[in-house]
Amino acid sequence: MAQEDMFKKLVSHCKEYGFVFPSSEIYDGLGAVYDYGQYGVELKNNIRKYWWDSMTLLHENVVGIDSAIFMHPTIWKASGHVDAFNDPLIDNRDSKKRYRADVLIEEHLAKIEDKINKETEKAAKRFGESFDEAQFRSTNARVLEYQAKWDEIHSRFAKALNDSNLEELRQIILDCEIVCPISGSRNWTEVRQFNLMFSTDMGSTADGALKIYLRPETAQGIFVNFLNVQKTGRMKIPFGIAQTGKAFRNEIVARQFIFRMREFEQMEMQFFIRPGEELDWFKRWKETRLRWHKAMGLGDHKYRYHDHEKLAHYANAATDIEFEMPFGFKEVEGIHSRTDFDLSQHEKYSGKKIQYFDPELNKSYTPYVIETSIGLDRCFLSLLAGSYVEEALDNGETRVVLKLPAALAPVKLAVLPLVRKDGLPEKAEEIINMLRFDFRCQYDEKDSIGKRYRRQDAIGTPYCITIDHDTPNDNCVTIRFRDTMEQERVAIDKLHEIITEKVSMKTLLKKIID
Ligand code: GAP
Repeated sequence: MAQEDMFKKLVSHCKEYGFVFPSSEIYDGLGAVYDYGQYGVELKNNIRKYWWDSMTLLHENVVGIDSAIFMHPTIWKASGHVDAFNDPLIDNRDSKKRYRADVLIEEHLAKIEDKINKETEKAAKRFGESFDEAQFRSTNARVLEYQAKWDEIHSRFAKALNDSNLEELRQIILDCEIVCPISGSRNWTEVRQFNLMFSTDMGSTADGALKIYLRPETAQGIFVNFLNVQKTGRMKIPFGIAQTGKAFRNEIVARQFIFRMREFEQMEMQFFIRPGEELDWFKRWKETRLRWHKAMGLGDHKYRYHDHEKLAHYANAATDIEFEMPFGFKEVEGIHSRTDFDLSQHEKYSGKKIQYFDPELNKSYTPYVIETSIGLDRCFLSLLAGSYVEEALDNGETRVVLKLPAALAPVKLAVLPLVRKDGLPEKAEEIINMLRFDFRCQYDEKDSIGKRYRRQDAIGTPYCITIDHDTPNDNCVTIRFRDTMEQERVAIDKLHEIITEKVSMKTLLKKIID
């Protein structure tokens, strides 16, 4: 199936099965804002718990906080967001449509990459098993021509971004003959900077309202609480502070479903360290975070690092963990070595001393910071994209199944009486009453057993328990496994143990450290 079709199917699956709805749908929606439905919220809660437990249970020197979304506006001046949290925008004069200049260029580069990949795929088909991809890419004249073009544009682009050279960005768009997808014309305006923060007023105008911002990242809530946590928790460096919560960005190019939203959720951890140790800690957190992703079992080959060439003003090293989405490898998490930039800035703007006295070194300093920052919604999307499968069955039908990691699945087990009589529903209720305290269970008695299995497959339920006419006599049920569709007859009193082994968060967490 073409990746584009697969993505469309995924988006409609999310809606049809209660994972994600467009926001304010009955009013025709609100751009790049989404609501999570009954299964979506369970999956999201489970991902959040997986992240939270991995941070705060597996690292005894990482603690959590929950800071407010509204914060003093000077925080955003100090952090650099008021002056530098911008996207370069360009308008097409004919269509009156606005675009991100960097995205137009990135898309152009992606098209060249596509051409290289297509040439390679064609050659692979032609040569079959004897095909040597590396040799083909380094010798084929057409591929080399595309590659040279890509390299030239890419190096100009990276330099223009680094220098914040807006004129050069426009020039690249003109030189590459990039056209507006709506009007098809090259009638572009100048490139301008556009700040991504939403603002609102706090207090009544009569009192003198204060212009405040909706936080564009949760990290600043951690920085401004550094001393509070360090002192009250008697924390010793190195230590980390973790936080999950909503962030808001007035994204201009808001596409690709929940990949780029205007309201989204982040899970961030700032790890405070001694200056000079940052590159070592950066490497360690890079590895730890990749293990966290891979433990979900979507396939190791679906992840890769992307080291940044253009570093943010506060960073001395940065990398993304990318996941292979249906629209290519995309950033899901950023790991940044943020130096002492944020704490120093808050010290400067607040006038309060923000330092740590290191008893081992017998001196005070401003700690350095390694940040791990993952978008919960992007992780959710990676899980759905990585687990959505359409499988042809022996009877000629197709089943759609979400092969989600069992510990994260919204519903852990479905209890299904074969018929709606003969005491089977009552037996089902007994089993649910026994298991409901530990696992999210669902009862379903409607339609054939096959249809009921399909419904559970579609929401990723790892286990279906079927009660039949023998159950009241032998106290056994049939357990059906989602991924293999195998069935096994087991004693009711073994159910708890069998299910716990696979669905507990502990099983997933252990995979990170094993
Ligand atoms: N505190 C650092 C920071 O915010 P970032 O790379 O801008 O860094 C971190 O964002 C993560 O937040 C990204 O890797 C992504 O997963 C998520 N994210 C950022 N913007 C987003 C958006 N508009 N919609 C959904 N997720 C977003």
